[in-house]
Amino acid sequence: MSGILSDLSRDALSALAQVTDEAGLAGWHREMLGRKGSLTEALKGLAELDADARRARGRELNALKQELEVAFESRQAAIQSELLDSRLLAESIDVSLPGRKPAVGSLHPITSMIREVSEIFAHLGFQTVEGPEVELAEYSFDMLNIPKDHPARDVWDTIFIDTDQVEITLRPHTSPMQVRTMLQQEPPVRVVVPGRTYRYEAQDATHEWHFHQIEGLAIDRAITMTDLKGTLAEFARQMFGAERKVRFRCDFFPFVEPGVDMSIDCPFCGGRGCRTCKNSGWIELLGAGMVHPNVLANVGYDADAYTGWAFGMGVERLVMLKYNVQDIRQFYGNDLRFLSQFGRARL
Ligand code: FA5
Repeated sequence: MSGILSDLSRDALSALAQVTDEAGLAGWHREMLGRKGSLTEALKGLAELDADARRARGRELNALKQELEVAFESRQAAIQSELLDSRLLAESIDVSLPGRKPAVGSLHPITSMIREVSEIFAHLGFQTVEGPEVELAEYSFDMLNIPKDHPARDVWDTIFIDTDQVEITLRPHTSPMQVRTMLQQEPPVRVVVPGRTYRYEAQDATHEWHFHQIEGLAIDRAITMTDLKGTLAEFARQMFGAERKVRFRCDFFPFVEPGVDMSIDCPFCGGRGCRTCKNSGWIELLGAGMVHPNVLANVGYDADAYTGWAFGMGVERLVMLKYNVQDIRQFYGNDLRFLSQFGRARL
């Protein structure tokens, strides 16, 4: 091979040895073997030679071209295999490492409590139903014997929705579902109604502006206060222990007559008096009473033929009592350290 061609061969092969990736390979191929590459340029010079010299130089150039093509293919194969090796290394999985545990969620304590209460009442013959959180003021108040100018209407510090036509509330209690249930069906009625409720209320350790209640309603012929007391006492014992005592005292709610509140003897001190029960020995659980005849008449029930009772209790307060939670705001702080204490999901 003549001096020029052997220089060309040496330079080309050493440049090829420096190439480390696909782009470099393509560039090298263009420069050496492409249409405007060094070898093509050398071939162009053949025309100026005489026949013998042209033949000899042509052979040399062909041999060089083959040599470079072989070198290119072998470098290309080497680079591709290096790239494959490094990609395999980067993407390889060490199957001997221990697996990462997926985070398992659990039910929110309020959801669990709603299910627990519903289950207890289901065994006592009550169906669970749900109703709207955005509620007509007519059902939140008027149909429940709370007329517009009645002072009891202030009790709930209601959040109203701004409309020109009908008065609409974010329901301040679950009691409007008494009305909806009775409008939808004839007696006998036995339902519990869990759900969110809203009040325009300052927050503190025992008050939230949004919380949950469970309403209960039983209507039939000859239902008496004894049924109310027996059912609610049974509920309290199933929820807080068979040894619980219950106490009923007079209270006022416009939609019941007579009205009562029910307390249980403090589960923390057994009624002797402690911080939780403010040394009274008793903890209030719910409001209840015999459904007011005006409410029965408002939904078209025959108040001479049917009687019934209703109750309403706060779900957050039930959980606080059962698990000794000191501050209601913890339920909505979204803190997993607090929420995960309530155990695994019961789906
Ligand atoms: C009522 O809401 C009546 N509707 C209950 C009722 C139903 C009485 C049927 C008679 C017959 P009251 O306003 O007391 O009543 O609320 C009932 C329960 O909701 C309270 O005992 C309390 O546990 C809970 N509660 C009331 N306000 C709040 C609040 N801001 N934050 C958390 N829980 C509350």
